[in-house]
Amino acid sequence: MTGADAPTRKRSAVRSLLRLWPYVRPVRRRLAWAAVVAVLASCLSLVIPLVLKWLVDGPVAERDPGGVWLGALYLLLLGLAEAALFGLRRWLVARPLAGVEAAMRDDLYRHLQRLPVAFHDRWPSGQLLSRGTTDLMLLRMFLAFPLTFLLVNGVTILVGFVILLQQQWSLGLVLLAPAVPLVVLCSLFESKYALVARRSQDQVGDLTTVVEESVLGIRVIKGFGRHRSQARAFRELSLTLRGTELVKARLLAGIWATITALPELAIGAALVLGTVQVADGGLSAGTLVAFLSTALALRWPVESIGFLLAISQDAATATERYFEVMDAPQETEGVAPPSSPVAAGRGGMVFDAVEFRYPDAPEGTPPVLARVDLHVRPGETMALVGATGSGKTTLTALVPRLHEVTGGRITLDGQDITAMPRERLRELVSVAFEEPTLFSASVGENVLMGAGGGPGEADLERALDTAQAHFVHRLPEGAATQVGEQGLSLSGGQRQRLALARAVVGRPRFLVLDDPLSALDVHTEALVEAALRRVLADTTALVVAHRPSTVLLADRVALLSGGRVTAVGTHQELLRTSDEYAWLMSGAGDGGAGDGRAAAGKGDTA
Ligand SMILES: Nc1ncnc2c1ncn2[C@@H]1O[C@H](COP(=O)(O)OP(=O)(O)OP(=O)(O)O)[C@@H](O)[C@H]1O
Ligand SMILES: [Mg+2]
Repeated sequence: MTGADAPTRKRSAVRSLLRLWPYVRPVRRRLAWAAVVAVLASCLSLVIPLVLKWLVDGPVAERDPGGVWLGALYLLLLGLAEAALFGLRRWLVARPLAGVEAAMRDDLYRHLQRLPVAFHDRWPSGQLLSRGTTDLMLLRMFLAFPLTFLLVNGVTILVGFVILLQQQWSLGLVLLAPAVPLVVLCSLFESKYALVARRSQDQVGDLTTVVEESVLGIRVIKGFGRHRSQARAFRELSLTLRGTELVKARLLAGIWATITALPELAIGAALVLGTVQVADGGLSAGTLVAFLSTALALRWPVESIGFLLAISQDAATATERYFEVMDAPQETEGVAPPSSPVAAGRGGMVFDAVEFRYPDAPEGTPPVLARVDLHVRPGETMALVGATGSGKTTLTALVPRLHEVTGGRITLDGQDITAMPRERLRELVSVAFEEPTLFSASVGENVLMGAGGGPGEADLERALDTAQAHFVHRLPEGAATQVGEQGLSLSGGQRQRLALARAVVGRPRFLVLDDPLSALDVHTEALVEAALRRVLADTTALVVAHRPSTVLLADRVALLSGGRVTAVGTHQELLRTSDEYAWLMSGAGDGGAGDGRAAAGKGDTA
């Protein structure tokens, strides 16, 4: 359910948190200063009881009003100094920690962009989203607060107890008594809380996934009237999360109650004992006042420990979840086997015994592509035809290396694609996918994404023209019109034409189109085809096609069947020689209509 392979092994919170060091390193000085300031401020609060003691045993006992005023002034100054120091601490950490959070988020985003498509196939997007938001916020909270205060409170408690033991060691020991059970309880709490924290954060990820999917799929949900069942599914998940949060709260309430009650009992006992000692004359009233106010000043540092441990545990879990993503291996540049010189003339796009199996395919299933041999000659346009689910999309994804072949190889103009730097490969090859995704940017920006270095207005116009995307000029602001998230404000065919324009704008050497014209009417399709012919004249192209009208754009056609290319030839040849091809083309209605156009095209030029 978590999407990630959540580690069930026992892990150490400290070890997880130590992984934050590279990010904390640049701000370590600031954090150290902030800790020093906080320790100072906290210790100042321990000086207050000492002034009280002086006040009670001195000016108050001697009925000296001047002395009392002076004492009050000291107390006021101490209080102000404490407040100012805590303020200074806050100021010291705020900016650097916001920087740490931003740097971590940046790294996560950059890493996500470089993870292979297979990773994204496997991970629900909500899990990634929640790691980039909730988890990082928890980490910043931890660095700002518990990290410092676990230290500060530890030092304060130590110094406080030294003062207590010095003033009256017997009373001090009474207060120390609950320490042992408290430590045991805290470590028990830690291990229980760690499990629940992980569960809760994973459930936040699942919830995010549902929200994201239902927002993206809102049309389907409404169209099928599924909003009720969708809301029910959401409510169930959110109730589960609520349950987990309640378990967390119960654990926290338990530890908080114990951590508060035990010291209170000890302070009560010390108060009774101390009063008896004062009555016996063994202890001055001032010392008892000082003792008790020191003990009370230590209450917050002690009580807060449960809460600080809880946040630290949340942060350790968040760190783990963050690094689960960061540790996923990025796309490798890949080292090609010592490249056997490809025979001259084997230019173009060559699939050589290509085999591919999805990494998450169940054991024992046959690979999607078993052994694909195909040669698209330089400057040729090859149509790829096959039944639905035969692996056409998969094959096209292998060329820009969205997935890595699991056997055989693909060469472009004789160069193995795994031997090329990815950047070079993606300069050479342009793609348009089945799903034309547009980003929330202007039409122009969406199209120009397809080109590398500085293509201009002219290239944009040419690309829009090629894709017959003349509708762009009728948009309110032309190519500067913003299209919504996923370009939902455009029709399917319009989006498809923009995706096509994006694919051709950079005048790529190689073009891979996955059924680029499926949403167009036959007349627009014919216009696009004619324009593409001009553009594709010196481009080597592989075009997935379902309709005869799209096939006619191509010089030759390859039939993909059973994980292999079983036939290659012109449309006419395949119609004659391949029953499967004839069958695939027959249902589409205009099987014969395009014959004339095929002949009018480039023909079999290669
Ligand atoms: N990410 C994936 N993980 C595992 N299997 C997948 C994945 N994507 C596709 N497949 C499987 O691979 C096979 C080929 O799918 P592919 O999308 O390549 O078919 P296609 O020929 O493009 O079909 P269509 O004509 O419907 O677009 C299908 O059986 C599909 O179930
Ligand atoms: Mg497909």
